[in-house]
Amino acid sequence: MKMETVVDLNTPIASSLEQVLECFDRELRSDLPFVNRLTAQVRRYRGKLLRPKLLLMAGRLTGELCHDHVVLAAVVEMVHMATLVHDDVLDNADVRRRQETINRLIGNEGAVLLGDYLISHAYHLCSSLGSTHASRRIAAATNTVCEGELMQIENRGNLELTESDYLEIIRRKTASLTSLCCELGAKVSGADDEIVEHLAAYGLEIGMAFQIVDDLLDLTATESETGKTVGRDADLGILTLPLIRFMAEASTSDRTKLAEVLSNGHPQKTEQVRAMIGDSSYLDEAMGVARSYVQSAIMHLNNLPDNDAKTSLITTAEFVIQRRQ
Ligand code: IPE
Ligand code: IPE
Ligand code: MG
Ligand code: MG
Repeated sequence: MKMETVVDLNTPIASSLEQVLECFDRELRSDLPFVNRLTAQVRRYRGKLLRPKLLLMAGRLTGELCHDHVVLAAVVEMVHMATLVHDDVLDNADVRRRQETINRLIGNEGAVLLGDYLISHAYHLCSSLGSTHASRRIAAATNTVCEGELMQIENRGNLELTESDYLEIIRRKTASLTSLCCELGAKVSGADDEIVEHLAAYGLEIGMAFQIVDDLLDLTATESETGKTVGRDADLGILTLPLIRFMAEASTSDRTKLAEVLSNGHPQKTEQVRAMIGDSSYLDEAMGVARSYVQSAIMHLNNLPDNDAKTSLITTAEFVIQRRQ
């Protein structure tokens, strides 16, 4: 299923989404032409807009969309983009959203600063809201995302990484933000605490599924499918779910072989890893774990009223495991 299908299903959020993009672009304007040239690149470089859509859909499911939803949706996309710009430096990636990464366009130093510029604008924009609640929640989630990325760096090359540590890394680096999007959407709509908690849990579970699938795509998809550099996890010695399961169950000689493949300086790690686990059940097993997160995400919507936004959230959850980009 393509994300456009989700967009079509989201006619109720379409006009708010337009306002989100206007708000995003307006916030990044500078009086310096060089800065504007860089942010123009950021504007050309739209992704799936999953996080602002989640925030708007959760808001629409639980009430009426308002100005604060629009601003917060722009803020979460800005935080997300800052993490991507920095992540591409960390991963030394070449392609993002079917274009050259910022680090390839202007180098690592410029990319670090542009990521800082995006994060500081996210807080500038967020602080325009009357309440400090959302700012504190966004700051807390951003702290957690950074902790997840730091935990991942700490575990590069760790062939003993456990499944529970892997799940903790992806909860922090990815699911914490998707969860917050759904939480804030409902909170701004004035939903009861119990409903806000269900939306936050839905967002957390789809974030987990999203990153497990992202990690599978990094191993199995091509750059032309995903629109971004693939194969970097294995190249950098980052173990993801299929490899963790492989390592847990492999014979000593297979473990030694994988360790040798993943060791520093080994060329074409991803091709070799693919060859080692391609015929095993570990890829399917990992997809099964993602599928169960999606099923439990959808269950959190059970007691909410049936409306078009709920249909969109269910479809979005299914999209997360069917996507190839
Ligand atoms: C990529 O996120 C980073 C991960 C959390 C895996 P997306 O796949 O949502 O990226 P864009 O925003 O659509 O480019
Ligand atoms: C990064 O994960 C997730 C972030 C929080 C930025 P990945 O490194 O897997 O993201 P991609 O594959 O580069 O988009
Ligand atoms: Mg990356
Ligand atoms: Mg990835």
